[in-house]
Amino acid sequence: MLAGQRSLLRASLLLRPHTPPMLLIALLVSAQLAAAAVGSGKTALAVVPRGSTSHVEDAALFRLYYGQSFKVIKNSVDGRSYLLLQNNTTMASRTKYCSGRIKSFIIPLFNYSVDTTFFPVSFFELLGLVDSLKGITSESITSQCVLKSYANGNIQLINKTDPRQLTPFSAHFTSADNEQACNFAAFVPLEERTPLQRAEWIKYLAAFTNLEARANSVYDAIKGNYICLSKAASNLTTHFKPIVAWVEYSQYIWTFSAEDYKLGYVTDAGGENVEGTSSNQRYNVSSSDDMENFYALLCTVDVVIDQTHAPEPAEYTLSTFLENINADEDANFDFLRNKCLWRFDKRVRDSSALDWHDGAISQPQLVLADLIEILFPTGNYDPTYFRNIAKNEAVVSVGPEACSRSTSAPLDPIIIQC
Ligand SMILES: *[C@@H]1O[C@H](CO)[C@@H](O)[C@H](O)[C@H]1NC(C)=O
Ligand SMILES: *[C@@H]1O[C@H](CO)[C@@H](O)[C@H](O)[C@H]1NC(C)=O
Ligand SMILES: *[C@@H]1O[C@H](CO)[C@@H](O)[C@H](O)[C@H]1NC(C)=O
Ligand SMILES: *[C@@H]1O[C@H](CO)[C@@H](O)[C@H](O)[C@H]1NC(C)=O
Ligand SMILES: *[C@@H]1O[C@H](CO)[C@@H](O)[C@H](O)[C@H]1NC(C)=O
Ligand SMILES: *[C@@H]1O[C@H](CO)[C@@H](O)[C@H](O)[C@H]1NC(C)=O
Repeated sequence: MLAGQRSLLRASLLLRPHTPPMLLIALLVSAQLAAAAVGSGKTALAVVPRGSTSHVEDAALFRLYYGQSFKVIKNSVDGRSYLLLQNNTTMASRTKYCSGRIKSFIIPLFNYSVDTTFFPVSFFELLGLVDSLKGITSESITSQCVLKSYANGNIQLINKTDPRQLTPFSAHFTSADNEQACNFAAFVPLEERTPLQRAEWIKYLAAFTNLEARANSVYDAIKGNYICLSKAASNLTTHFKPIVAWVEYSQYIWTFSAEDYKLGYVTDAGGENVEGTSSNQRYNVSSSDDMENFYALLCTVDVVIDQTHAPEPAEYTLSTFLENINADEDANFDFLRNKCLWRFDKRVRDSSALDWHDGAISQPQLVLADLIEILFPTGNYDPTYFRNIAKNEAVVSVGPEACSRSTSAPLDPIIIQC
């Protein structure tokens, strides 16, 4: 027997209820060693996980380790390890953890609920898990098929400030990373830095339901399409790359957004980010010096994406923008003359929820295709997430009636011709 094999076996045997933390750490370490050995391709392994497995390629904030009848997800955002135990093993009947550093779950999950605040439920749709979603904390959801399942009475609305309403589910997924209840699991793709890293979190959810094979094929398809689109875009520039600015107005201050994934989208789409994006400079509308500086930078820009929060997205129009920057329609900006002023609030539900915070996270290839069309217009591609307010494009309202598939069927990623 190989050394790694022996230590894993020993650790598994020792794992009982009330196992002291040291032994558990030994278990995690041996699972990691096993994973490392697989990675290096050196040692033939005794650990033959049942079913398919996933390997994290791009995401930086979680790792997966496989034993024979368990899996461990290490989440470095909440600092926890999630120990997932196959339901038909003795380990599952004997083992339970619920502490600050480790929680156990019996898998595959029978049912689950979701705290819908900034939570991309579309990941569950890609896995085909909408039917086992049984509880949501609000109706502000931009997935038409989750809305349909809710309208059909398959999902109940739960009150998240009442802890008793959250316990009946095998797992309660949330985007908060400090939750203590034993059935809570943090799902935090938004913490990652690139669009593909965020999308790879489908593997995190898949581990809870033994759907690794599906997650792998969805992620491979999305990543392949994203990379292909990005390569094609890098060839579209004729002379200079178009310059893009993500801008935001809040409490009389304009800023350039410098979130990594947004800057990444621009370069992947063949564009360039406006100078000064990373300076964290604030432009106060009551200061003429500030606004002169802001206008000067806007004069260099080819495309503006205005991400200013709007209580009613449908009512945010070109004139709202002009009012906010204190300019009029014939202001001498290229992006106005060429009608390149966009917002990412095209797909909305009840004015409050944007699909930008859901479907766009699980399918970044669609966002990239949108941006390529925005930077290098062909006129024969209709963007999914962006609308051009310089051309008075309206929002699209998302509702349950638009769900055209059975809620039990998985959503297939949309692959853009490349
Ligand atoms: C384990 O889960 C599977 C799939 O949900 C189910 O068919 C099976 O009955 C479960 N086994 C046990 C022992 O609970
Ligand atoms: C548990 O169920 C899986 C199928 O889901 C089966 O392959 C495995 O042999 C079962 N293990 C035990 C200990 O019953
Ligand atoms: C939710 O639960 C809390 C605590 O039990 C309660 O105070 C509140 O009124 C409930 N809200 C609704 C809308 O039922
Ligand atoms: C979820 O599944 C468990 C069994 O694992 C069951 O006891 C519970 O009633 C289910 N909860 C809901 C809300 O369906
Ligand atoms: C990009 O352009 C180069 C030179 O014109 C060409 O060889 C290459 O195949 C192109 N790549 C793609 C992805 O279109
Ligand atoms: C913006 O400038 C005005 C006038 O100088 C000042 O009163 C206000 O406090 C500034 N606002 C912020 C948020 O700095």
